[in-house]
Amino acid sequence: MAHLKSHVKRLLGWQAMSHPPAVPAPEPPRHDPPLDGPAAELLARAKAYYWFHSIDLGNGVVTPGSKSVELLCAEANAIFGPLDLRGKSVLDIGAWNGNFSFEAKQRQAARVLATDHHCWTQDVKGRDTFQLAKAALNLEIDELDIDVPELTPDRVGQFDVVLFLGVFYHLVDPIQALQNLAALTKEVAVVESHLDMGNVERPAMVFYPGAELNNDPTNWWGPNRQCMEALLKLVGFGRIAYQPHPIVGSARGIFHAYKQS
Ligand SMILES: C[S@@+](CC[C@H](N)C(=O)[O-])C[C@H]1O[C@@H](n2cnc3c(N)ncnc32)[C@H](O)[C@@H]1O
Repeated sequence: MAHLKSHVKRLLGWQAMSHPPAVPAPEPPRHDPPLDGPAAELLARAKAYYWFHSIDLGNGVVTPGSKSVELLCAEANAIFGPLDLRGKSVLDIGAWNGNFSFEAKQRQAARVLATDHHCWTQDVKGRDTFQLAKAALNLEIDELDIDVPELTPDRVGQFDVVLFLGVFYHLVDPIQALQNLAALTKEVAVVESHLDMGNVERPAMVFYPGAELNNDPTNWWGPNRQCMEALLKLVGFGRIAYQPHPIVGSARGIFHAYKQS
């Protein structure tokens, strides 16, 4: 499990900051009454897996994720706050445990397609966790195991809203992925990413050829805000709205990229 945890931690990108901004201290553990019956069984099944997302499955069961419920809530508000998902189609690229797919459906998206490959096919058994949570929440969400470079309109169609959260810097060729992202998007794509080079005013992006970023060989790129905005415009988005990450600030960014200006 220790090996698995370090593998997962490396995927997160949170250790990317040489001077991490202050994150609120974790709250002391709560002593909720012990669960019993089906809730206890569900919690026991959930605890058999590694979780990135802490997802409230109801009846007191929360998956033990490395991203807390509070962090995910702050991210969801930043990501979905500017959007009205009612009746929209949503594609979640790199869904892992599925928190943002579930959130989109709960915010009344008409159709949600959750996709992943890396974490769905490796030791972390991300697809099993996604399916466990989806069943517990009783949400109707489509799913597809597909790697990011394969994601094109020919394969999956187009979506009103496309989520590209925490994935950009894991790709060797993120610019091709952004081109595909623009082709997949009818209205707006939301890109959340690790950022670097904040001290450079011109568009710039660091290449990490080895495991320099968080000791993770799957982390390749660290763009600055100007670079991400310029790349999104290059691939065909007309207007970009930027927010620093609601918890870690400018070490990560959230970009709403609209097709129409
Ligand atoms: C940091 S997690 C982000 C999960 C979720 N979207 C979020 O924001 O909480 C990175 C995601 O990128 C996916 N991914 C896609 N291509 C990848 C690659 N080449 N290397 C590593 N992860 C990759 C992983 O499977 C994982 O779901």
